Amino acid sequence: MQTIRDQRQLGSALVALRAGGKRVALVPTMGALHPGHLSLVAEAKRQADRVVATIFVNPMQFGEGEDLDRYPRQEKEDAKALEQAGCDLLWAPTPEQMYPAGFSTRVSVAGLTTRWEGEARPGHFDGVTTVVAKLLNAVRPEVALFGEKDFQQLAVIRRMVADLDMGAEIVAVPTMRDGDGLALSSRNAYLSPDERIRATTLSKALEQAADSIEQGQPVNGAIQDARRALNDAGFAPIDYVALVDEASLEPLHSPAGRMRLIAAATMGKTRLIDNVPVDSP
Ligand code: PAJ
Repeated sequence: MQTIRDQRQLGSALVALRAGGKRVALVPTMGALHPGHLSLVAEAKRQADRVVATIFVNPMQFGEGEDLDRYPRQEKEDAKALEQAGCDLLWAPTPEQMYPAGFSTRVSVAGLTTRWEGEARPGHFDGVTTVVAKLLNAVRPEVALFGEKDFQQLAVIRRMVADLDMGAEIVAVPTMRDGDGLALSSRNAYLSPDERIRATTLSKALEQAADSIEQGQPVNGAIQDARRALNDAGFAPIDYVALVDEASLEPLHSPAGRMRLIAAATMGKTRLIDNVPVDSP
């Protein structure tokens, strides 16, 4: 696996990678890689001949007082894990390269970004779409892979790629979880051992609420029960627990179409998000 830091070397590396008409897949990440990230690389290998991964802790998507400075950085281990997973090229640019002096463009998706994470983290999705647009434009992959773990991000990126004719096919990869159900996340590293145990309530409460709705119980009651379980486990604040339409992310008060239960809540100092699919009753 080749590692590129200097963007001026990216073009020629991509030409070599594509030689003979090879299909390229892109896996964007912020590093601190766990098996969830590596499942994206595994799926990328099924989707394409060559896999390009990026590691860039994107300052533009972190708000004031968020964890940009303490976000875990472990590039050596990450490079090793990517190589073992069969990644062909790692691009790990510096903030100065991504955002040189004079940088003044924002890519912003309306509508889908106003609720949920957009409300809790103003400006976050503009940072995500701006950097993902740059990564897609620089690499021009046939396919790009994103995790369902960040369900709203996935929907927002699909919208941007369709609206701006970016061409890449967007492939969603299911959330990888620990044995106790907690969705793998680089931010789980912030949890104390006690918080880590209590954090499992997030996925359990969502699964339970999804089961209730699938069995025909009222949506609002199922959501109230989930909020109570989160509260009892010590999550505070609970930003949202909602049943939403998979495509529009608009809230649903009774089951309809393709649905997702989404939630965000803070355990100690660590804000966690998760979501599960919900079948029609
Ligand atoms: P990051 O949080 O590093 O995640 C990189 C990719 O891995 C995202 O597509 C995310 O949804 C996926 N992922 C994270 N945890 C996962 C899990 N447990 N199972 C499956 N996939 C998982 O998301 C970002 O970085 C950034 O916003 C980025 C898209 C790179 C733009 O900066």
